[in-house]
Amino acid sequence: MAIIRIDKYLSISLGISRGDAKLLLKSGKISVDGKTVTKADTKIDELSGVTNGEEAVVYKKHIYIVMNKPSGILSASSDKRARTVLDILPEQLKRNGLSPVGRLDKDTTGLLIITDDGDFLHRVISPKSNIEKCYYAELDGEVNDDIIKSFASGITLASGDECKPALLEKKGKFGAYITISEGKYHQIKRMFGTVGLGVNRLHRTRIGRLVLPDDLQTGCSRELTEAELALVE
Ligand code: URA
Repeated sequence: MAIIRIDKYLSISLGISRGDAKLLLKSGKISVDGKTVTKADTKIDELSGVTNGEEAVVYKKHIYIVMNKPSGILSASSDKRARTVLDILPEQLKRNGLSPVGRLDKDTTGLLIITDDGDFLHRVISPKSNIEKCYYAELDGEVNDDIIKSFASGITLASGDECKPALLEKKGKFGAYITISEGKYHQIKRMFGTVGLGVNRLHRTRIGRLVLPDDLQTGCSRELTEAELALVE
């Protein structure tokens, strides 16, 4: 049995701020197992039957957020100096236990999932899951057929670490899409480094079959829909 404050429960389930949850409670419309609850600090069981007027409130245990990460923001849960992806979330999406699903470098932009579901997080970042991550890279030189072939057969990094086969597709003179199914530290920059290419800009476009939504401006985040979430794994 997991116990939670009613204002938190409402904020999570209805996607509203804690302040709005408090107002809703004060309005007298919220009942828990048939009894009206008005106090924000009332503790309830997660499995209680909660209603808002006539409507049942469905509790969501976990939250799954999609962000179009801007450059200059750290993919970490906290940092003493730098602003993190959690700092730039809108208030109504913030809650305890959130972490980015895998790390993007500070200067990398694009698709980032943030969740408080540890099992989901570990499945998505585990190399065993073979979940594809696709990036667009702007390079300081051109990709040629030999580079495409060596990426396809599996690059060995300068550190001696072996990478799984990666799909490299040239895009224009200095651009390329690269798809990998693991996530070693600075992997893409290090992969291109082995063939003498520097990465000027890196942008993640896809995780699994989930493509960065077109309508999500840089720096913005929203909850994933269930259909979108199902595309990740
Ligand atoms: N590979 C990198 O080098 N950087 C990222 O941010 C992601 C993958």
